[in-house]
Amino acid sequence: MTSESRNPQKHQVCIAASILAADFSQLGRDIRSLNDGGCDEIHFDVMDGTFVPNITFGAPVLEWIRPLTSLPIDIHMMVQEPGRFVDDFARAGADYFTVHVEACTHLHATVQSIKAAGMKVGVALNPGTPVSVLDEILPDIDRVLVMTVNPGFGGQQFIAGQLAKIAAIADRLPWGVDIAVDGGVKAETAPRCVEAGASLLISGTGIFNHPDGVISGIAALREAIGVTEA
Ligand code: DX5
Ligand code: ZN
Repeated sequence: MTSESRNPQKHQVCIAASILAADFSQLGRDIRSLNDGGCDEIHFDVMDGTFVPNITFGAPVLEWIRPLTSLPIDIHMMVQEPGRFVDDFARAGADYFTVHVEACTHLHATVQSIKAAGMKVGVALNPGTPVSVLDEILPDIDRVLVMTVNPGFGGQQFIAGQLAKIAAIADRLPWGVDIAVDGGVKAETAPRCVEAGASLLISGTGIFNHPDGVISGIAALREAIGVTEA
């Protein structure tokens, strides 16, 4: 399959901003910039200090953010046994709940509980995890999230070896299931992700650390992938 046929409609590639890289002393301002800049989605990185070597924020922070935007919010759970928190995040207004296959003892049961709570389901793969783990769960999910860094921190180097994994997933994925790419996605790396088959680009420092501000960061990503309209 060619890269063109993996992505027949490039305008459907969406951009999500990882607020891990936002200025938390000005979080309301930064969320409004995402609204104004035509961002498609907000990416909310939850880390527990066990599954990954860092701790971030949880459902109470989502409760503060939810009224500030109508954009979809995806909760990226870098948490051991994330199923414990499904109801908390559903109540706080999450749209997507993305869990790592490596963190779920009972992945199928966790996926069913996310659906039952009314959220869309994402399944994330670490760089060292093969595509084959998706075999039994693909029919039940809305999104595959391919990590292009080892999870735990923003601002890391993009692992180009994961492009082949994105392409392998794109070749076998049912139409309508997103392929999200997370980690080191910037104007320089985004076109290669899209060419491999990504439909959602998640970027933290690429958007929030852009020298001309958040809105320019979103525009630079769109321009890099050849999509200028919001
Ligand atoms: C990493 C997180 C990513 C991160 C992306 O563990 O899951 O979402 O915030 O940040 P950048 O785009 O700076 O690599
Ligand atoms: Zn993430």
